[in-house]
Amino acid sequence: MSSKRTYPRRVKTEAGEIEFRHMTAADEAAVLAFAKKLPVHDLLFIPRDISNPKVLAAWIKEMERGGLTSLLAVKGSEVVGCGTIVRDELSWSPHVGEIRMVVSKDVRGTGVGRSLSQEIFALALEMGLEKIVAQMTVDQRGAIALFESLGFKAEALLRGQVKDKTGKTYDIVVLGHNVAQVRAQLEAYGVPAAVS
Ligand SMILES: CC(C)(COP(=O)(O)OP(=O)(O)OC[C@H]1O[C@@H](n2cnc3c(N)ncnc32)[C@H](O)[C@@H]1OP(=O)(O)O)[C@@H](O)C(=O)NCCC(=O)NCCS
Repeated sequence: MSSKRTYPRRVKTEAGEIEFRHMTAADEAAVLAFAKKLPVHDLLFIPRDISNPKVLAAWIKEMERGGLTSLLAVKGSEVVGCGTIVRDELSWSPHVGEIRMVVSKDVRGTGVGRSLSQEIFALALEMGLEKIVAQMTVDQRGAIALFESLGFKAEALLRGQVKDKTGKTYDIVVLGHNVAQVRAQLEAYGVPAAVS
């Protein structure tokens, strides 16, 4: 997956300066430490448990193969957030990308999630994706509000779709954003030409 966006990029948040950069294999230990600190409940929206070293190793392999792109939010030398775009070009949905993001509890509510979501959304647009989806447990009110503010709308509710280690099940909401339609509307209004 290629993009013209250049990294690292720095943003100011209430948690201080945060650097966004691409994740690489060298980040494995730092990302594992980040994932292990997250409450399990905050990981249920990802199909596999990324706090498991085997899952993380598979993630890095897939990243190196080009099947997904991950951005890290780094504060000092600590990973405080991660955003990923997953796209399967060999599937029947090569035009669809899924955004997955999570921010460390220590910096939540300080604007890191908003900045990371904007960055990852911009990256997804640059990749030429026509539709972007995101999914989360229905009780992640902050995440739903964040994605809705980017223009995502609820498309599906999957009842009892995920189960935590105690056996409790949770519903998943799937949000979607038809970016191709929005882009076409902007072009019809002449907006890209006006702002370029
Ligand atoms: C979603 C998540 C990344 C947001 O991270 P964050 O760093 O706390 O985000 P921010 O501080 O930038 O806040 C984002 C917005 O959500 C709003 N928000 C936060 N909690 C909220 C809540 N409970 N209800 C409504 N809005 C809420 C904030 O007011 C803010 O809006 P603003 O920018 O207009 O002020 C974080 O909550 C998280 O990691 N959740 C668990 C994982 C998850 O469910 N990810 C989504 C799957 S893709």
